[in-house]
Amino acid sequence: MNPAIPAWRPMREADLGFVDRLGNSIYPDHVESFAAFAAKFRACPEACLVAEKGGRGAGYCLALPADAGNPPRLDQVRYVPAKPAFIHLHDIALSEAARGHGLVPLAIERLAEVARARSFAGLSLIAVMGTETMWPRYGFKPAPCDRAVIASFGGGVYMNRPL
Ligand SMILES: CC(C)(COP(=O)(O)OP(=O)(O)OC[C@H]1O[C@@H](n2cnc3c(N)ncnc32)[C@H](O)[C@@H]1OP(=O)(O)O)[C@@H](O)C(=O)NCCC(=O)NCCS
Repeated sequence: MNPAIPAWRPMREADLGFVDRLGNSIYPDHVESFAAFAAKFRACPEACLVAEKGGRGAGYCLALPADAGNPPRLDQVRYVPAKPAFIHLHDIALSEAARGHGLVPLAIERLAEVARARSFAGLSLIAVMGTETMWPRYGFKPAPCDRAVIASFGGGVYMNRPL
């Protein structure tokens, strides 16, 4: 593996400080607490990844099982889905150095494996910061969602895709 090329690896508990720092620097308008990041990771570690470049953290993907149309709110610490049916990509964030290397489709492939293993219907996410134009290329389409959840992000587009 070439360390100059960013690559995903499984996220570990010890990565949460890095996730907190990178997340809050990339999303100054979507602030989340360390506890909220940690709760999402602990809900489904196998759906969470860290991108490394040159031996340093360069991005993360944080995902967890969620109900259809009712995923966790921004900064929600306690989220217990009633009937989980989707692996919900709560957040994927890459530093500038890790962008443009095809890490998004690789993360989606991994999340689809986790969803398949649980016999879920598919993957979901809330597109923020204009990314609703990007997600359709990976098969995501807008779908109905609890309005309070979307409001917690200050707006966004809930999207899902079947496996
Ligand atoms: C969104 C993000 C994960 C995309 O990763 P990436 O490696 O930069 O993606 P790529 O460079 O492979 O881009 C793929 C395509 O999506 C487009 N794209 C990238 N970021 C985009 C954005 N924020 N909005 C709309 N389109 C975007 C690119 O222009 C590219 O299109 P092209 O192939 O026609 O040139 C990354 O830019 C990032 O971390 N952004 C900040 C956090 C964020 O917005 N996360 C998603 C929240 S839902």
